[in-house]
Amino acid sequence: MRVKRRRLRVDRIVIVLVLFIGLIYLIKFGIYTIKNYRIYNSAKNSSTIYVSDDKLNIWNKTIDYLKENKQKISINYKGDSVTIDTKDLKNGMNVKLDGYNKTIDEPLFNEVDSYYIKSNDILNLSSRLEISLPSYLSKYDIVDVYKVKKNKITLHRASVDVVDGTASFNVEKDTDYFITYIDVKSIKSSSITLDQGKEEKIKVQYNPSNATNLGLTYKVENEKIAKVTGGRVKALSPGETTVTIKSKSSGVTKDIKITINKVEEVVKEDTKKVENTGRKTSKGYDIVEKDGITYIDNLMIVNKTYSLPSTYNPGGLTDEFNNAFEEMRAAAALDGIELFVASGFRDYEYQVDLYNKYVNIDGPELADTYSARPGHSEHQTGLTADINSADESFEGTAEAIWLDKNCYKYGFIVRYPKGKDQYTGYEYEPWHLRYVGKEKAKKLYESGLSMEEYYGFTSEYID
Ligand code: DAL
Ligand code: ZN
Repeated sequence: MRVKRRRLRVDRIVIVLVLFIGLIYLIKFGIYTIKNYRIYNSAKNSSTIYVSDDKLNIWNKTIDYLKENKQKISINYKGDSVTIDTKDLKNGMNVKLDGYNKTIDEPLFNEVDSYYIKSNDILNLSSRLEISLPSYLSKYDIVDVYKVKKNKITLHRASVDVVDGTASFNVEKDTDYFITYIDVKSIKSSSITLDQGKEEKIKVQYNPSNATNLGLTYKVENEKIAKVTGGRVKALSPGETTVTIKSKSSGVTKDIKITINKVEEVVKEDTKKVENTGRKTSKGYDIVEKDGITYIDNLMIVNKTYSLPSTYNPGGLTDEFNNAFEEMRAAAALDGIELFVASGFRDYEYQVDLYNKYVNIDGPELADTYSARPGHSEHQTGLTADINSADESFEGTAEAIWLDKNCYKYGFIVRYPKGKDQYTGYEYEPWHLRYVGKEKAKKLYESGLSMEEYYGFTSEYID
C-alpha cells in the first residue's frame, strides 16, 4: 500500500510538470504567432517590418509574400533598420539584427544597396575571402568594403576590384562585412582664381562623403585658358572659363569658374635632364634630379618632400619588383605563409581619387597620416606594393611577422616602420613594401632605421 501511494504522488508531479512545460510552450507559440502575424501584416502594408526581437524565425508565408511582391524590405529593430534585398531571403531564415543596433541606422548605409556577410556565415575563415556579389553590386567595377566590429562600422578596404562578379578581400575573425557601392549624389567645389603659369589642385567634396567614387572627369570649356590634369588646374592664358567636374559613376556634374590673371613675365619651367642639384642630405648623400624625379644613392625617392611628375607611369609593377616578389612568395610558401599583392601600382589619377576619398571621409589632416597626396605615393613608382592587407589588423599576423623578418633577403624594406612616423611622415604600415634591391635592403634592415633617417632626408609637405 505504501509503495502504491508514493507512486501515485510521483505520477501526479510528473503530470503537473508536463502540463506546466506544455503551457510554457503554448504561450511561446502564441507569442510567436502573434509577432509573426504582425510582421506578415506590416510586410503587406509597408516597406518596413518592425520587429521587437533581435532574432526571430519569420514565417515562410511572409518570406514568400515578400519575394513575390517586393524587391526590398527594411527590417527595423528598436529604431535601427537594415535594408535587404528580398531575393536574398530564404525560407526558414532567422532575421538577426544583433550587433547592428547602433550603427546600422547611418542614412548612408540604409539608403544604398549593400550586401552584408556575417562572421558566422564565413565558413572557411582564411585570410582572404572571395565572394560572388549579387547582381546589384557585380555590375560595378569596384566596391567598398566596410567592417562591423563591436557595433562600429569602419571602412575596411576602399575600391576593391570586381572581377567576374567576384570581390576578394581579407577578413578577420568575429567581424562582419558590408560590401557596398554608394553613388555620388552631388559634388561641391568652388571657383578658382590663378595667376598665369601657376597651378592649383581643385578641391572637390562629394555627397555622401563616403561615396564609392573612383573617377572624376574634368572638362574645360576653353582649353586655351586652362588645362586640367590629375585634378590640378593649370593657368595657361588670361581670361575666364568653366570646368565641368563629372562623376564617372553617377554622371553628377558641377561647374566651377576659373579666372586667370595676367602676369607680365611668366617664368618658364626648367626642363633639365640630369642634374646633381649640389644639395646633399644631412648624412652627406648627393641629391640628384633627373626629369623631375629625385634620386639618392641611386634610389628613386618619393615621400612628402619629394614627388613624381603626374605623368610618370612605368605601366605597372616593374619587372625587378615582380621577380623579387615571386622569389619571396615562393620562399614564404615553404614556411606556410601565403603572400599576395593587395594593391600594387597606382597611377597619379588613381591616387587623386583615392586620396580625395580619404580626405572626404577623415579630413585632410588625418588622411595625410596614412594616405599619400597624388604624386607623393610610392605606389606610383611601380616599386611598391601593399601585401595581403592594408588594414591595421594585419599587424602581428604571421604574414606580417614573416615579412618584417625576411623581406630584406629578397630586396624589400618595410617602408613605414613602427614608431618612425616623425621621419617617414606615415603611421606604421607593416604591409607596404618598397623594392630597393638586396644589398640596400640588407643595409637598411640591419641599421634599424627608416629610409629617411638612414640617408638623412626629410618627408614633409611644404604647405
Ligand atoms: N599609404 C601610403 C602612404 C600611400 O598612400 O602611398
Ligand atoms: Zn601602400
